[in-house]
Amino acid sequence: MSYTKKDLITTSNLTKDEIYHFLNLAKEFKALNNSDVKKAKSLYGKTTVNAFFENSTRTRTSFEIAAKRLGADAINFSASQSSAKKGETLLDTINNIVAMKTDIVVLRHYSSGAAKFVAANTDAHVVNAGDGLNEHPSQALLDLLTILEAKGSLENLTVAIIGDIFHSRVARSDIYAMKTLGIQVKLFGPPMMLTGMEAFGCKICKSMQEALEDTDVIIMLRIQLERQDDEVPFPSVREYSNFFGLTKAKMKFAKEGVIIMHPGPINRGVEINSDVADDPRYTHILNQVENGVAVRMAILHTLISNKQG
Ligand code: CP
Repeated sequence: MSYTKKDLITTSNLTKDEIYHFLNLAKEFKALNNSDVKKAKSLYGKTTVNAFFENSTRTRTSFEIAAKRLGADAINFSASQSSAKKGETLLDTINNIVAMKTDIVVLRHYSSGAAKFVAANTDAHVVNAGDGLNEHPSQALLDLLTILEAKGSLENLTVAIIGDIFHSRVARSDIYAMKTLGIQVKLFGPPMMLTGMEAFGCKICKSMQEALEDTDVIIMLRIQLERQDDEVPFPSVREYSNFFGLTKAKMKFAKEGVIIMHPGPINRGVEINSDVADDPRYTHILNQVENGVAVRMAILHTLISNKQG
């Protein structure tokens, strides 16, 4: 077992071996998911709770499917219908969930640092399913699995992440993991959405052409309006799309064999046009979603194996 931490909160402290541990295990679970009987037993008798304080389609559903495929009892807790609405604190809420003999809490929360805080204050395993603009480690691992499958290797690759980088927890988790693996990361977006990102040691591009040229993987990000209290820092959506949106016309700058990814949800016609998002020559967006189940099975299996070990 090459991952022995209680929780999965961040990719910033993952070693190369730990990343490959999750990817290799996910490949095994992907084979299971493509077989007739999509069932394993490693979480039999265990209980997982998806505690989501923010909306989700992909992450919540795939964690639920992942837990059930491994034999767990998987419960969905929705904050909007819970006693959090009556003033209960986050920690009291989690402690009550854990008091029901929950083994793994999968937490999505709008506050950066929420998952680390909860993990430090409970004996249950905690998986960070997205905390504010901070991190989304399972997304980074499924992104890496998708790239590995498409490119055959994670060596000598350049990835461009384009869009609202500053507010993106996906970008942070991707960057940490990719830097650990030696992947070159380029960033492009409106200057206000790149604030402070130089500190991550990525190349900051000045144009879409610079971002796309000599790039193996393009990751497009949506504008995270829910994390912007003030006015949106660009004049209009049309102007944003002109400068920072990915279109078929702009693909003339891209390298042969480039793949396009997006964590979802996609905003068609804003950060990406349908003529590229749906082009089978480029798109790996639904491959990411498929890989999300296998990666999350690998995460849940690993954490429970640690507890038993
Ligand atoms: N990629 C992602 O986190 O999507 P959801 O918000 O739908 O979970």
